[in-house]
Amino acid sequence: MHLKNNDYELFQLIEAEKNRQETHLELIASENFVSPSVLEVDGSILTNKYAEGYPNKRYYGGCEFVDQIEDLARTRLKQLFNVKYVNVQAHSGSTANMAAYRSVLEPNDVVLGMSLDHGGHLTHGHPLNFSGVDYRFESYGVDKDTEMIDYDVLRQIAKRVKPRLIVAGASAYPRAINFKKFREIADEVNALLMVDMAHIAGLVAAGIHENPCEVADIVTSTTHKTLRGPRGGIILTNNFEIYKKVNKIVFPGIQGGPLMHIIGAKAVAFKEAASDAFKTYQENVVANAKALAEQLKQLGFNVVSGGTDNHLVLVEVKTLSGLTGLEAEKLLETVNITCNKNTVPNDLEKPYITSGIRLGTPALTTRGFSTEDMKTVAQLIYDILMNPNNDFVVDEVKKRVGILTSRYPLYKK
Ligand SMILES: Cc1ncc(COP(=O)(O)O)c(C=O)c1O
Repeated sequence: MHLKNNDYELFQLIEAEKNRQETHLELIASENFVSPSVLEVDGSILTNKYAEGYPNKRYYGGCEFVDQIEDLARTRLKQLFNVKYVNVQAHSGSTANMAAYRSVLEPNDVVLGMSLDHGGHLTHGHPLNFSGVDYRFESYGVDKDTEMIDYDVLRQIAKRVKPRLIVAGASAYPRAINFKKFREIADEVNALLMVDMAHIAGLVAAGIHENPCEVADIVTSTTHKTLRGPRGGIILTNNFEIYKKVNKIVFPGIQGGPLMHIIGAKAVAFKEAASDAFKTYQENVVANAKALAEQLKQLGFNVVSGGTDNHLVLVEVKTLSGLTGLEAEKLLETVNITCNKNTVPNDLEKPYITSGIRLGTPALTTRGFSTEDMKTVAQLIYDILMNPNNDFVVDEVKKRVGILTSRYPLYKK
């Protein structure tokens, strides 16, 4: 009510965005819909508080309650991933990665990460990103035929480039990652192992993906993707020496005051993620992704690696539809289906154009979509991409998207 009366311009824009979220099929693999409790804490009075430092060692007064909140977040996070030490202050996944690198690397050290056009993230060595500027990144990718990580090839590359650190984890890899294998290879070449589990943290929390905390020297994550918390980052380790460095690097190294409203919202999300309902939710996320991948395959699309083990599906759309990833993304947008274009392994198109799209099921599963619904979603995607210039089909698909989203109300409950 306050915003409506005091800043109608912004109020209207937020209402428009709320309506967009309500009426569109959200298939961006890195997005989700947080619970009302997470949202409440995210927008709470905790935003007023400055708390530079860590619990019981702050540079500001009045931290009695925020100390308890940060400790609660830390305790819950440690339990969730069965890990000894955590930092919950990183403002984002990128900041968490910067802190992790700085805690175990010197400038110009060699790092081995997944190549960006095979699924790696910007912070895994993009030349324009701090990671590519500060360190000498070498890359591994996926096998040409299986489109999955070939651990023997990874070992050969590691032996050749002799990295100080190997980074496992990705933004667009639909398969389970064998962290134990990564550990073995890191040990063979005397490298440290970092896992960026941003995309799969929810699956790990639910026990349906191998937990990297058991084998990695340091683990980072976002809290807003499958984990379904507020936007932010976390850093986890079982190594006390690394933990001490991480804390110093996060503050005062690269950040000032922590976002206490976000840390509070993280605490809520960690509690939710430890519940049985969350485990069921993650099982449904994976079942939905498998149903989506299977149906898209049946319809004739090339699904990268032939399927999925997690929450995301990479689809090469160009061969079947003649459309680039960029064209497909734009066309889907016109019928209220939201996703992002994505390079596929060995893509011949430029990174801004691409031959594929990345689809994810975390957000729709939060709304309650079933495997049957995901088959319908696959059909809608097929109908529109195969009939880009047919106004009748465009209208029809848009109408069916409207029917589907109205069956699973998000904010209009
Ligand atoms: C694997 C991975 N790491 C890190 C990040 C960065 O997270 P943020 O956008 O919060 O900086 C992302 C975001 O997409 C990601 O996919």
